[in-house]
Amino acid sequence: MSETLKTQVAIIGGGPAGLLLSQILHLAGIDSVIVERQSRDYVMARIRAGVLEQGLVDMLTAAGVGERAAAEGLPHHGVQLAFEGEMHRIDLSGLTGGKQVLVYGQTEVTRDLYAARDAMGGVILDEAADVTPYDIETDTPYLTFTRHGTDYRLDCQFVAACDGYHGVGRRTIPERVQRIFEKVYPFGWLGVLSRTPPVHEEIIYANHSRGFALCSLRNPQLSRYYIQVPVDTPLDAWPDDRFWEELKRRLPAEAAATLVTGPSIEKSIAPLRSFVAEPLSHGRLFLAGDAAHIVPPTGAKGLNLAASDVNYLSEALIGYYRNGDEAALTGYSERALNRIWKAERFSWWMTKLMHQFPEDSEFDRRIQRAEFDFLIGSPAYQAAMAENYVGLPY
Ligand code: FAD
Ligand code: DHB
Repeated sequence: MSETLKTQVAIIGGGPAGLLLSQILHLAGIDSVIVERQSRDYVMARIRAGVLEQGLVDMLTAAGVGERAAAEGLPHHGVQLAFEGEMHRIDLSGLTGGKQVLVYGQTEVTRDLYAARDAMGGVILDEAADVTPYDIETDTPYLTFTRHGTDYRLDCQFVAACDGYHGVGRRTIPERVQRIFEKVYPFGWLGVLSRTPPVHEEIIYANHSRGFALCSLRNPQLSRYYIQVPVDTPLDAWPDDRFWEELKRRLPAEAAATLVTGPSIEKSIAPLRSFVAEPLSHGRLFLAGDAAHIVPPTGAKGLNLAASDVNYLSEALIGYYRNGDEAALTGYSERALNRIWKAERFSWWMTKLMHQFPEDSEFDRRIQRAEFDFLIGSPAYQAAMAENYVGLPY
């Protein structure tokens, strides 16, 4: 069996970037269809980021999906940084003229976006296999895919590839026009979600000689913890007891003493990488989010960067459909990359400051310590960090 569908913007990927783009376009009267490889249950169950910048919160509100985040999200006005057991607070709000971040899980953002798309009759085709874009250098691109035994062709005017790091969109751009910039870190993050009260009301980033540790949360009953682990560590080497033991050893004594442990309800290892593919567009194909770039998670920029891409891309597409403005579409890549590289720099900087690098010499270690000491002693340096952490302007 085969079927042909038609839309204005074909969106590959039903993660946060694809869903948010589809929702914003819909509100502007632009039709889109989302084609997602996984099942909806799978997408909804993924545990990922947890810290939203105000720019993303504002986008959710403008898109009519900010209500639950406003009610249930936890505003954070500061973060804790620890080095070998000493804790220091970075006063995010005091240093940025009152700005804050919102602790609200990516899982919840995704749930809210699916609910909104469903309520407005949005078309999301999940379990779509072998999605392939064609004719992206023409005005009549299309996708093909197979779904539940039927072959589909989706005709469109634009393809938005919001299909994450392993997606097909980026690979559709010819190698001759694409440049890849990449840095792979020699460790990963082992993450645990547990139904336990968080150890601290603010997020703790800890640099310890045994490795980095992070204490985060989703709500007052749900904690999210991470520890730096060697990149080749198998997950089954980390039963819950070992994880909690190692986390405690890396935390400041006052936090370790009050840590409440419990069974993990999710446990996974994520590799750390910095990655940018330039440019973000080719012909009528546009990349947004993890499809175009990856940041190491230190500083929680991945999801927020996907949102700012969607902000620029939706503005460009709306400009095209309202006024025939081609310039905004052409300028999308450069505009987005300007902010992407700043977030890449910040995530790289915070990763370097807070982790143990196996290749580091004693000299490197002293420099790291000096940088930390300078940060906690310098309101100017802290202000620069806070400005990045709460999110640079769109
Ligand atoms: P994704 O969320 O990856 O969505 C892409 C979607 O496209 C997926 O649903 C995928 O199934 C679909 N897709 C892929 N290929 C195809 C295809 N060929 N055809 C159709 N559909 C396709 N960021 C943080 O800030 N903090 C964190 O703690 C954190 N943890 C993370 C842990 C992991 C394991 C990963 C992978 C990322 C993490 N991130 C974290 C990053 C953050 O979650 C991402 O930046 C964010 O999900 C990007 O959204 P996206 O919509 O661009 O991509
Ligand atoms: C979380 C993830 C991050 O990468 C980070 O810097 C802070 C918090 C989290 O999952 O809660």
